[in-house]
Amino acid sequence: VRKPTSPVFFNDFSGSPEGERSRLLESIERVIDSGFYILGPEVVEFETNWANYCGTDFAVGVASGLDAIEIGLRSMGVGPGDEVITTPMTAIATIIGISRSGATPVLADIEPSTGLLDLESVKRCFSASTKVVLPVHLYGRISGMKVLSDWADSVGVGLVEDCSQAHGAKEVGVASGAWSKFGAFSFYPTKNLGAIGDAGALVTSDLALAEKARQIRNYGQTNRYVHAIEGINSRLDELQAAILTVKLASLNSMTVRRREIAESYRSGIDNPHVRLLAPAPDAENDVHHLFVVLSRNRAGLQEHLTELGIQTLIHYPIPAHMQTPYRNLARDPRGLGNAENHAQTCLSLPAGPHLEDEEVGRVIAAVNSFAV
Ligand SMILES: Cc1ncc(COP(=O)(O)O)c(C=O)c1O
Repeated sequence: VRKPTSPVFFNDFSGSPEGERSRLLESIERVIDSGFYILGPEVVEFETNWANYCGTDFAVGVASGLDAIEIGLRSMGVGPGDEVITTPMTAIATIIGISRSGATPVLADIEPSTGLLDLESVKRCFSASTKVVLPVHLYGRISGMKVLSDWADSVGVGLVEDCSQAHGAKEVGVASGAWSKFGAFSFYPTKNLGAIGDAGALVTSDLALAEKARQIRNYGQTNRYVHAIEGINSRLDELQAAILTVKLASLNSMTVRRREIAESYRSGIDNPHVRLLAPAPDAENDVHHLFVVLSRNRAGLQEHLTELGIQTLIHYPIPAHMQTPYRNLARDPRGLGNAENHAQTCLSLPAGPHLEDEEVGRVIAAVNSFAV
């Protein structure tokens, strides 16, 4: 493999879809001219569009994916004394959101073949204090929701989804976020649907939950200057909402491109020192937010790719229970060995819709030329 002159970027926002830039600029101008900047008509429109996209009755726009988790849990009445079972192989915001609701995160292990929450481990974490199980659709893949949801119903615990990496991923036709009490989304710029700043939303079909969430995001306000509960400031602004509505129009085509790239990696990568995660049974299950490979010599693989001009990242190098604030969190009595092993071996290849076919080919050739 020849050293290329231009790097293969992990993220690149310059090549947006045809005409999107002018539509974005128009929407920004419209918001500036409207004189309405927070929780106005653009937010209402995006919430309607996003709820439709997810197949839920309501969406509540908030300031970030982290806030969506906190606000959603609080809106369900989950708080101090309650336990929420989740995975340590996630963005730390999942754990912070649970913790900020006042509830206690409890960590279950992952399935090594997918990196997703392992139901058998969840069962070992279950206690009389468990109120919610919170799977994370990591890397864009939704899996096992029917089985998990049946189990949650049978033991009387709520189900909540962290959908921040899985905008529009579906299982048996049901979108991420529509499987549970609420789904939390981040629209951080690098997400499959990204704003040009921080933004988030929760989706739900529970009217009372949606109303409570709207209250909490705005200081606990019921009517102007009447505060029934102590809320926070987590309002989505008009500018980000308008931008998200424009970008939502191309989300499906971006997902199609992500699937093509993932398919090329699946068929092209062939190296005994590099393993792939198990493919999803159905294309609709995975929106390929990240394409992750595993290698025992992850550092060597990353260095090799860097030398060939290919940017990579690690999602995530340190599982939640090995982060300083969370070392003492309760967990599966058998430990979290799969998550620890995954954290040491996983490497995310560039796989966004910005990649040209030639770049995809360069990544495949570079991965295949890695020798331990
Ligand atoms: C799985 C997951 N959960 C939560 C978050 C938090 O979202 P935000 O950065 O918008 O707070 C992110 C993204 O950073 C994420 O990937």
